Amino acid sequence: MTRLAGKTAIITGSARGMGAAEARLFVAEGASVLVCDVLDDEGTALAAELGAQARYQHLDVTDEQQWTVAVDVVQSVFGTPDVLVNNAGILQFTPMLSMSVADFDQVLHVNLIGPFLGMKSVGAVMTEARNGSIVNISSTGGLVGMSMISAYTASKWGLRGLTKSAAIELGHLGVRVNSIHPGGVDTPMTNPGGQQMDQAQYAGQPIQRIGRPDEIAAMALFLASDESSYCTGAEFVVDGGQTAGIDLAPMLAAMAG
Ligand SMILES: NC(=O)c1ccc[n+]([C@@H]2O[C@H](COP(=O)([O-])OP(=O)(O)OC[C@H]3O[C@@H](n4cnc5c(N)ncnc54)[C@H](O)[C@@H]3O)[C@@H](O)[C@H]2O)c1
Repeated sequence: MTRLAGKTAIITGSARGMGAAEARLFVAEGASVLVCDVLDDEGTALAAELGAQARYQHLDVTDEQQWTVAVDVVQSVFGTPDVLVNNAGILQFTPMLSMSVADFDQVLHVNLIGPFLGMKSVGAVMTEARNGSIVNISSTGGLVGMSMISAYTASKWGLRGLTKSAAIELGHLGVRVNSIHPGGVDTPMTNPGGQQMDQAQYAGQPIQRIGRPDEIAAMALFLASDESSYCTGAEFVVDGGQTAGIDLAPMLAAMAG
């Protein structure tokens, strides 16, 4: 298991959920990982579980100063980062007409300004080294519209666009930038109580179940590794076919019946 042998990665929001799955997989594939989050207890426990190849660092992605510290720490502990996964994110369900500017702004700050600051801070050392892969975790909410989560969809569409601009600016400096668009994934974000999930709501998509964090981590691994050396500015959809299109069979059945 050496697909990331010798590489150093920073993964934001990796104390739990799909960020933690990415940290586990990256370490198993030979990388050293700076586990970053605002959940210090969970992040410290994960880094302890992963051993010498991992270290926890408190990092609120909205704070530029904390990014500077995180880059200094990763360089002194593991070396120049080869990989940045901008994974941290928040979700808020509110009808658009009753959403406050402060709440809208908070979602944009974590989900869009955070990755911007990450690319700025980590991109600076990556371009100096003429090497790097940045993976931005967007969403299918960055590909289509979704009700009740207007700020979230705006942030994820924004991240998709930011990914492409960054890819164009950084490509000739040796840094690739891509976005991943997960569909529904069973994490504390969607399933705070960790309950057995009702899969009925996924009956309308080609793969009729919710995704697992390790299924997103597998795509992040590909984009972090040299296997994706010719991919940049691209969108990688991992959604069980949620955004593939419209199934006409039920309508045809209704028409026939
Ligand atoms: N779960 C899904 O269905 C789904 C689908 C599409 C996209 N996503 C995206 O995947 C990413 C990971 O989500 P998840 O499902 O694992 O959720 P999660 O809530 O389990 O994990 C998100 C992590 O981000 C951290 N975080 C929040 N604000 C932060 C901040 N300001 N600075 C640093 N860390 C912060 C949280 O503490 C948490 O550990 C998010 O960007 C999310 O929008 C999730």
